[in-house]
Amino acid sequence: MASPLKFSGRVVLVTGAGGGLGRTYALAFAERGASVVVNDLGGDIKGDGKSSSAADKVVEEIRAKGGKAVANYDSVEAGEKLIQTALDAFGRIDIVINNAGILRDRSFARINDTDWDIIQKVHLMGSFKVTRAAWNHMKNQKFGRIIMTTSAAGIYGNFGQANYSAAKLGLVGLSNTLAIEGRKYNIYCNAIAPCAGSRLTQTVMPPDLLDALKPEYVAPLVLWLCHESCQENGSLFEVGAGWIGKLRWERSLGAIVQGKNQLVSPEAVQEQWGKITDFANATKPRTIEESMNTLYEALSKVNSEGGISMNPTSQAQSASPSGIEPAKAIGQKLPRVVFNYDHLHTILYALGVGMTTKDPDHLKFLYEGSEDFCCLPTFGTVVSMSVLMSGTLASVPGLSFDFTRLLHGEQYLELYKPLPTTGQITSEATVADVIDKGSGAVIILDVHAYCGKELLCYNQFTVFVVGAGGFGGKRISNKAKVTISPPTRPPDAVMNDATSVDQAALYRLSGDWNPLHIDPNFAALGGFQVPILHGLCTFGFAARHILKHYADNDVNKFRAIKVRFVKPVLPGQTLQTEMWKEGSRIHFQCKVKETGATAIAGAYVDLVSASDKHSARDQPKAAGLQSDLVFEEIGRRLKEVGNQLVKKVNAVFQWDITNSGKTAAQWTIDLKNGSGEVYRGPARCHADTFFTVSDQDFMEVTLGKLSPQKAFFSGKLKLKGNIMLSQKLELILKDYAKL
Ligand code: NAI
Repeated sequence: MASPLKFSGRVVLVTGAGGGLGRTYALAFAERGASVVVNDLGGDIKGDGKSSSAADKVVEEIRAKGGKAVANYDSVEAGEKLIQTALDAFGRIDIVINNAGILRDRSFARINDTDWDIIQKVHLMGSFKVTRAAWNHMKNQKFGRIIMTTSAAGIYGNFGQANYSAAKLGLVGLSNTLAIEGRKYNIYCNAIAPCAGSRLTQTVMPPDLLDALKPEYVAPLVLWLCHESCQENGSLFEVGAGWIGKLRWERSLGAIVQGKNQLVSPEAVQEQWGKITDFANATKPRTIEESMNTLYEALSKVNSEGGISMNPTSQAQSASPSGIEPAKAIGQKLPRVVFNYDHLHTILYALGVGMTTKDPDHLKFLYEGSEDFCCLPTFGTVVSMSVLMSGTLASVPGLSFDFTRLLHGEQYLELYKPLPTTGQITSEATVADVIDKGSGAVIILDVHAYCGKELLCYNQFTVFVVGAGGFGGKRISNKAKVTISPPTRPPDAVMNDATSVDQAALYRLSGDWNPLHIDPNFAALGGFQVPILHGLCTFGFAARHILKHYADNDVNKFRAIKVRFVKPVLPGQTLQTEMWKEGSRIHFQCKVKETGATAIAGAYVDLVSASDKHSARDQPKAAGLQSDLVFEEIGRRLKEVGNQLVKKVNAVFQWDITNSGKTAAQWTIDLKNGSGEVYRGPARCHADTFFTVSDQDFMEVTLGKLSPQKAFFSGKLKLKGNIMLSQKLELILKDYAKL
């Protein structure tokens, strides 16, 4: 079993907590250590009247059990006052459960303005006001969890509840947008549609059912969604009777009902009605960008092909029953992650991969006071690890899979300079490729890590998703850094190193929290007798052996490493690293000494050779591109007006300029960060919109000979990401791209 989810130190506001579901949430949070503000107006089911007794009773209940709680009797319409109570009593606000609710059920024709208004005010406006009052506190502390309470009546409609349904579905919209706006501040917002026996449902449900549908069946979902370890955001759940399910949108492939240069007619709609309403091969758009892209694709198709129906076969081919759609996934960027570290982390990592004070030459990795204190090169995987750990990979469009079925298959790391012993590292990950191995899917993730603007290192994570293959994709990738077999002669050198029984317990503190490496029950579920060592821990041991044997522990000599993880190692076993030197490349493999099993295979370390001059920052300049001059000019002009444009545009545009069908240069126009910047190379932060265009067509556009719209519709200019933002581009090209 996972360890109990605690809320110690967290302050929770539950609105409408004087009874029903709210009371259960309040009690559950308090029981797990949270300080709770129990809000309830104490009115009747229709919202009439007022009393303090409902909230007081629940506060007493919590205190009697040794919990911490205070009451608040304001209506949720006075949002600020509720949050003030939390601040006055406990000094902060971490979690808001918007739960207060009333009913004014009437068939639609009989709903009067008062019935309509009060329902919107309590449910929708109340949730807005309370959440808005908490928002900046959450933003400043970079933590917040919010629940909106919607209802099946809103999702599906229900007779006699037009006012209530409208407000309740409004809350889903509110939740979706807060999830987007809050994400970067670690504020997550989700909506739940509960079903439970309470005074709201007692008139519509038989007594037996009321008893069976306990609010206690709903509270666990609310608590999990609000826990700091839960990464769910912007989702909608139905919950009740001990069952929980997640909802999402499904959209038919649809049909284009417009012909080239023709207006849409009702007859064309009628003709295509079968296709418009056919859910075969339906898609599941998750973002407004995904939704809009279909519209833009349709526009482009109409203008370039003049056809009037979507091409169902090509769409059907790209959809995969396994949830893997390479065409959608490849090139997608994951949210940027920032990793702050100092000597504590680098020393902890060094201990995690077996460094010991028994070895005098290890001291420079273990003691910050050491004259040549430095950071192990393989710490470069740690700085970008949270890209994988955050779970966002499974939500990339075209990569819908079960995250628990993911295995770390291979790892490549390349350093462009030695890692500093302290730093703030920003990692940007792109899905480089997706391969179909039949039994599973292989996802190749390219991650560039920057310290400020300087590219520090590059990781390629290769992960295997068990059971997600069979989508008809390609079998090999030209993007993959490949493993290489060692020479057939006996190894030139061998090093043995015993891991400690606590090796995994120590290594995980460097940021790989997978319970498989610490929790015996979890390990048993995976078929292991004891928790296993992290593959990257074995990797760290082996890299350290090579650094010592062939580079005299000089981190300046370490350039790159590639490994394939073959079999797990158990903490306490002895690692045997076999090494072969071939020029500046050291081939190696790692075995478990006790069993002879190979743990790492096909691996190598590249050391810096005398002639080695590598720098990812020195992107080769493609000769003779006219667009280079334009970008350089845009850069110069933006220096004068960058600030204003950043405010107006607030977007990052990445350009792939092609020449003879191949990417010849990449440029980024960053009008989001600082006072704006134009630079050669891919976007250092998350780009909002991606353009691909030939050098020649780019010039036609900037010289005003070809409008961006025409270029787009004729397929000369390709767009990805947030296409709506591209409209702002004309502003730049019109005014700042003059040569
Ligand atoms: P409940 O009536 O037992 O609890 C609602 C609480 O909100 C009451 O204690 C009430 O005094 C309080 N309240 C009403 N107006 C308020 C205001 N202006 N300010 C502060 N407090 C106020 O009802 P229940 O069933 O526990 O409902 C909780 C939430 O769940 C509601 O939003 C409801 O619409 C929603 N819901 C419940 C379902 C169910 O099966 N019980 C089904 C779908 C949604």
